[in-house]
Amino acid sequence: MSRYILTILGLLVIIIVPVSFIKKGTTTKEELGKLLFFDPILSRNYTISCASCHKPGYAFADTSAVSRGVARRKGSRNTPSAMNVSLVSSFFWDGRAADLEEQALAPIENPSEMNLPLPEALSRLKNNKKYYRLFEEAFNSEPTARNLAMAIAAFERTLETSDSPFDNWKFSDDSNAVADNVKRGFALFSGKGKCTSCHFGSNFTNNEFRNIGLFNAKNLNDSGRSLISGNKEDVGKFKTPGLRNVAITAPYMHNGMFKTLKQVIDFYNDPGKVVPNAINRDSLLAKPLGLTSPEKKDIEAFLRSLTDKRFYKVFKRK
Ligand code: HEC
Ligand code: HEC
Repeated sequence: MSRYILTILGLLVIIIVPVSFIKKGTTTKEELGKLLFFDPILSRNYTISCASCHKPGYAFADTSAVSRGVARRKGSRNTPSAMNVSLVSSFFWDGRAADLEEQALAPIENPSEMNLPLPEALSRLKNNKKYYRLFEEAFNSEPTARNLAMAIAAFERTLETSDSPFDNWKFSDDSNAVADNVKRGFALFSGKGKCTSCHFGSNFTNNEFRNIGLFNAKNLNDSGRSLISGNKEDVGKFKTPGLRNVAITAPYMHNGMFKTLKQVIDFYNDPGKVVPNAINRDSLLAKPLGLTSPEKKDIEAFLRSLTDKRFYKVFKRK
């Protein structure tokens, strides 16, 4: 009899111990952050998630000039890609968040985005059995503002891309990875086009704020960085965006005013022609570049070569 009980107990131990291991302590911050990024639970009426605007198929950017949040409310700026953000030193077009953790909570409370007060977001997560358990597993703690921000930021840091034809050419020394137009385009981007004065490094950004001439205090009236710094000389400056996957993150600029890369390059070629009354345009862009039409096409080919392989399908449709 006692042997019988011991056998049963033994069997139970064999079954229960591994099952409890599977259930506990297996969730990482990154995995939890991914679930939260895609979950509308963080919006007031349970309709909008981070991924509604940062669409995975489009390098976590949006396809419209400005995105719509809860109750279809329109924001005022274009949604940037949430990829390749590990090395970024300030967030938002005006740099108002210093790190990804600080950034992550802002859209939840923003009235034209998810419009959910943080205490309410936290009580929803605490009252949700699945999330309560996952926060315990990932952080050994119940949901808190800090953990929520840390989980989302940890997921975003996994979204790095470096598997593009350009990378294969430049960094894996495969000279056949790109066609000649891409090579010519890169030479123009770094030379005659002067683009590398601001777009350089592994993500093609100086991580600075610059005024490229899209502010005229009239129809173009987002004063950008100066709203945060309070400095007059920052009027019309915006964060130089990185350019990885830029072929699929249209429309472009802080206000989404250009629909295609061709329009962007035409603008840079002669900014004064597109926005004649711009205030404080950067001196680097004082004179027209004088790019010929084949040269413009080469620069576009170079920009397209920055598309990570995982996005080729979307890229081909464009
Ligand atoms: C309604 C659309 C919308 C939703 C929902 C949204 N975002 Fe954004 N996101 C934007 C817009 C627009 C900006 C740029 C705003 C600005 O610069 O003022 C932005 C900026 C960002 C940036 C900064 C990128 C950079 O390079 O500066 C990150 C990161 C980001 N969002 C992550 C998130 C996360 C995480 C969530 C969910 C908690 C989220 N977003 C929800 C539209 C949205
Ligand atoms: C003086 C610095 C500077 C120079 C030079 C410059 N850029 Fe930019 N670039 C920026 C800034 C700042 C923005 C964002 C401006 C805004 O939204 O108002 C930007 C935006 C862009 C965008 C839009 C990206 C997006 O996600 O919306 C592209 C594409 C681009 N630049 C390509 C180029 C090319 C190609 C050249 C050379 C012909 C160039 N840039 C030269 C600073 C610069």
